[in-house]
Amino acid sequence: MPSFDRIGVLGAGRAGTAFARAAARSGIDVQIASTRTPTQMRYHLMQYAPQARAVLAEEVADGVDLVILAVPQEDLDDVAPAWFTDRILVDATNRWHDEPLPEWFEKGLASGLSSSEVIAQRFDTATVVKALNHISHWAMDTPAADEERAAAVASDSPSAAKVVADLVSALGFAPVVASSLAAGRHTEPGTPYFNVAATSEQLARHFLA
Ligand SMILES: NC(=O)c1ccc[n+]([C@@H]2O[C@H](COP(=O)([O-])OP(=O)(O)OC[C@H]3O[C@@H](n4cnc5c(N)ncnc54)[C@H](OP(=O)(O)O)[C@@H]3O)[C@@H](O)[C@H]2O)c1
Repeated sequence: MPSFDRIGVLGAGRAGTAFARAAARSGIDVQIASTRTPTQMRYHLMQYAPQARAVLAEEVADGVDLVILAVPQEDLDDVAPAWFTDRILVDATNRWHDEPLPEWFEKGLASGLSSSEVIAQRFDTATVVKALNHISHWAMDTPAADEERAAAVASDSPSAAKVVADLVSALGFAPVVASSLAAGRHTEPGTPYFNVAATSEQLARHFLA
C-alpha cells in the first residue's frame, strides 16, 4: 500500500516549492530537487520551502512512493525516466504554446496525445497521474476559503489515482477523479478551470463529461 508520509518533488521553482510548502503544512515530509546540488539550493529553500530536504535530482524518488513532477516541459529531456521506476509520478506540468519542447514531446502531441499521455509514454516505468497542474502556486498557498476548491486527478490506474486523490485532499483541495489519463487534457491551459477556482460539481461537469 503506497504511502505519502514522505514525497519527492522534482523542480524547486514556483510550483515545486509551493507543493513542498503545502505538503509540509499537512505534515508530509518532502525531498526536493532541481538542477542544482543540495548545497546550491540551501538559501533558496530557506526562503521558499524551509521544511523540505534538498536532494540530488537522481535521488528524488529514493525511498518514496510518489514524486510530483514540477519541471518545465521544455527541460524534460534532462530528466531520466529510470529515476521513477515503480513510482507514482504526478504530472503537474503544463504545455505552453510558446515553449520549445523536446522532439519526442512534439511528436507525441502531433499524434493526438495529451501532454500527460506523452509523459506517460516517455516515463513508461512509472505510473503517471495528472494532477495539481491547474492550480497556481498562489492558490496552493491559500486553499479552501469558505468553500473547498476542487482539484482534478486523472489516471489510467485506479489505485494510483486513489493515492493522489488522498494527497490532494491532504493539501486542502477536494479531488475529482477521472478514470483515464487522457481526461487530463480538460485541465490544460486554456480550459475553463485552469487557474480558475471551481467546486467539485463544477469541475466534475466539465472534467468528467
Ligand atoms: N507556477 C505555477 O503556479 C504552476 C502551478 C502548477 C503547475 N505548474 C507547472 O509546473 C512546471 C514548472 O513551473 P514553475 O512555474 O515552477 O517553473 P520555474 O519557477 O521556472 O521552476 C522550474 C524548476 O524546474 C527545475 N528544473 C529544470 N530542469 C530540471 C531538471 N532537468 N531536473 C531537475 N529540475 C529541473 C528548475 O531548476 P533550477 O531551480 O535549478 O533552475 C526550477 O527549480 C510547469 O510545467 C508549469 O506549467 C506551475
